[in-house]
Amino acid sequence: MFGWVKRLFSKEDAAPFFCSAVMPAAGSSSRMEGQNKLFAAVGGIPVLARSVLALGRSELVDEIVVAVREQDLLAAADLLRPYDLGKPLKIVVGGKTRAESVMAALRECSDAATLIAVHDAARPLVPLSVVETAIEKARDALAAAPAVPVKDTIKVAEGGVVQRTPDRSTLFAVQTPQVFDRDLLTGALQAALDQQIPISDDCSAVERLGKTVYLTAGSYENIKITTPEDLLLAEAICESRGESL
Ligand code: CTP
Ligand code: MG
Repeated sequence: MFGWVKRLFSKEDAAPFFCSAVMPAAGSSSRMEGQNKLFAAVGGIPVLARSVLALGRSELVDEIVVAVREQDLLAAADLLRPYDLGKPLKIVVGGKTRAESVMAALRECSDAATLIAVHDAARPLVPLSVVETAIEKARDALAAAPAVPVKDTIKVAEGGVVQRTPDRSTLFAVQTPQVFDRDLLTGALQAALDQQIPISDDCSAVERLGKTVYLTAGSYENIKITTPEDLLLAEAICESRGESL
C-alpha cells in the first residue's frame, strides 16, 4: 500500500550517498527537575531508544553515532542493546556543549559518510517523513532543517521591556534532524568552536558562514523534551498514534 512512499525515498533511484545520523545525548537535563530525560520512558520506551529507533528506521540512514556523558556510557549501551537496528550503532563520549558533543560524534562517523543528520536525542517522536524530507533536501542543497511556523506572537525584549514584535508570518521554530554535507558541517562547527561563539543549533553555525540553509516540513509532534510537562505531552502524542512507536 505504501510502496510509492518507499519508491519516492528509495536510495536505488538516486546517486549513492551515505548518511550518518549523529545524536547529541550528552546534556544534563537541567530543566527536568532532577531526572535524566533521555532515560525517561514515553509509551513504555525510553526517550533515547525512541530517538535512535526513529532515525534508524529510515532506509536513508546508514549508521547512527550517539554522544552521551561519560557517566551514562554503560547505561546507554545497556538501554540500546535490545534493539536491532540492522545498521551500525556507535556510542561515544560527548562534550561540555552540544556543539562539542556533535563534533565528538562526527569524529566517529564512517569515512564513507557524505551527509550528516544531526538529531537531538531529546526529540523521540520525530515522524519518518520529517527525517526523510530533510535528508533528501540536504542531499541536493547541502543544508536543510525541518521547521514549523510559530504559533505564538514573539516579542524581542531587553530587561523586561518590549523592543519590537517581528512579523509572525516570517518566524519558524526549527527542529531536528538538521542535515548537512559532512565537510560543510565539520568546518562550520570547528569555526564556531575555535572562535568560542556559542551556538544553539547546527544551522546557526552554517548560517554564520553565509551558506544557505533550506527549511523543510517539520511537525508539531516533533517536540523536544525539555521540561517535565513535555513528557506528559509526549505520552499523549504516543497514545493518539495508537502505537508504541
Ligand atoms: N546535548 C549534548 N551535549 C551537551 C549538551 C546537550 O549532547 N553538552 C544534547 C542533549 O542531550 C539533547 C540535545 O543536545 O539531546 C538538546 O539539548 P537540550 O534539550 O538543551 O538538553 P540538555 O542540555 O540535556 O537540557 P538542559 O539544557 O535543560 O540542561
Ligand atoms: Mg541544553
